[in-house]
Amino acid sequence: MLFDAVGLGALNMDQLHMVERIAGPDEEVFVRSILESCGGSAANTIIGLARLGLRTAFIGKVAGDREGSILRENLKGGGVADYVAVSDEGRSGRVMGFVDPQGNRALYVDPGVNDTLSMDEVREEALKTRLLHLTSFAGSGIRVQREVLGVIDDSVTVSLDPGHLYAERGASELEGILERTDILLVNRRELEILTGSPDPAMASAELGVDVVVMKMGSEGVRAFDGSEVMVEALETSCRDTTGAGDAFNAGFLYAWLSGHGLEVSCLFGNYMASRCIEGYGATSSLPGREALEVLEGYLRDTYQEKRGDSGK
Ligand SMILES: Nc1ncnc2c1ncn2[C@@H]1O[C@H](COP(=O)(O)OP(=O)(O)OP(=O)(O)O)[C@@H](O)[C@H]1O
Ligand SMILES: [Mg+2]
Repeated sequence: MLFDAVGLGALNMDQLHMVERIAGPDEEVFVRSILESCGGSAANTIIGLARLGLRTAFIGKVAGDREGSILRENLKGGGVADYVAVSDEGRSGRVMGFVDPQGNRALYVDPGVNDTLSMDEVREEALKTRLLHLTSFAGSGIRVQREVLGVIDDSVTVSLDPGHLYAERGASELEGILERTDILLVNRRELEILTGSPDPAMASAELGVDVVVMKMGSEGVRAFDGSEVMVEALETSCRDTTGAGDAFNAGFLYAWLSGHGLEVSCLFGNYMASRCIEGYGATSSLPGREALEVLEGYLRDTYQEKRGDSGK
């Protein structure tokens, strides 16, 4: 079977603790409530793509603990084929967040067994795909990503969302990854860290990546694939921006894989992100195949605009 899209990146359980205040050294502070949700940037994007009807799979690693089974169930429940290795020792990845009533946050990341993923745990059939989407690992997981890129077919489109973690490593440490990346999905700050300037066209030349998409939160997106487009974000009632970037990636990649151009892909990315932030959590409010009507509408509008039609 040929998959449409396969994800490869860290899987984490996000545990958000609402606290009275962020504790300093030797202090004791009460926890008011705990919110738990499945995280992992690539997993969020792949679940978004599955919901739009693509054949998807995920490669990663968890431990045989409670968090590990919830993370795998979340993928399976989303219709994603499970190529997640299960370690018989160690802990699954976790991100522990502590938030005070003013919204200040402290984050502690426990990568757990994510970075122990090895090439012999990556099944060959999971690499038969049209698109491979990569996001960050905290440590040595990047080695497996390099190895995977060395064995996949030339026809596979590779997308990378480096997030803050990989951006901070710098372009030289992403050697072996950027050379094989076709589409870089990045936010403004990350692009500045990577290249010194928030300019997708310059980044494309400097990093040798054909398509660079720079996400700019409520300001929308600027992207370059030989020519540049700027697409404004949708006006929406924003509840929770968790996973906005991952939802954007799902919309963009869906449209791109369907053969649409840069502008329509950005429009659909923005649409998926707007649906994500209207609700809570990274994937709960993502739409299903009914969203494809919106994509068709964007296609008609941009086509008519280019022909100078009035739409009659
Ligand atoms: N306040 C907002 N109003 C409308 N759209 C928004 C808003 N915030 C984010 N978006 C949408 O989400 C997309 C991605 O958001 P952002 O630029 O914050 O990416 P990101 O930093 O990668 O996100 P994440 O923190 O999830 O990784 C934007 O391009 C835009 O379409
Ligand atoms: Mg992001």
